[in-house]
Amino acid sequence: MMWRRIRQFVAACKAEITPADEAFTSDFLNPVEKSLFDRLDAVTAKHSINTARTVLRLAQSYNLSATEKQHAVKGALLHDIGKSLVKITKFYKVFYVLLGRFLFIGTWKPPHTIAGVNKFLYTMYVAKNHAKLGADLAEKAGLDSRLVRLILYHHAENSTDPIINIIREADELN
Ligand SMILES: [Fe+2]
Repeated sequence: MMWRRIRQFVAACKAEITPADEAFTSDFLNPVEKSLFDRLDAVTAKHSINTARTVLRLAQSYNLSATEKQHAVKGALLHDIGKSLVKITKFYKVFYVLLGRFLFIGTWKPPHTIAGVNKFLYTMYVAKNHAKLGADLAEKAGLDSRLVRLILYHHAENSTDPIINIIREADELN
């Protein structure tokens, strides 16, 4: 788990969105979904695109309908949209990956998001709660409720929803 995170982090440092990546996202996302996706920083966007490509590959071994496959790819592209609420810089990523999950940091929302300590606490809060915050963003933007659910539960283990399991598996591979 930890090694995977470190590997992801190293790979993410050289994130570059190619024209093929751009075409891929535009193929699958409608304009409203795409405008949400475009809020992501390059590192998270690249991770999401890679996750979506893996979802497509994994979907071949599941008996998904065309619509389900479409939802799975959209869900993969938007699963981390909650992280767009703050700029989670490399410093925060390293801190959160190495220490964040061992601490209570991130479990509460600081009253303000101004610079300094509050910014740090708010970033940790977003990192920890990005699934719920992302689902809220998606709902507010009027996205399909199926998609909102995929974002909300993308870290849920042993879900009864096969699409959530595919996204989670793909997420872990990227
Ligand atoms: Fe996530």
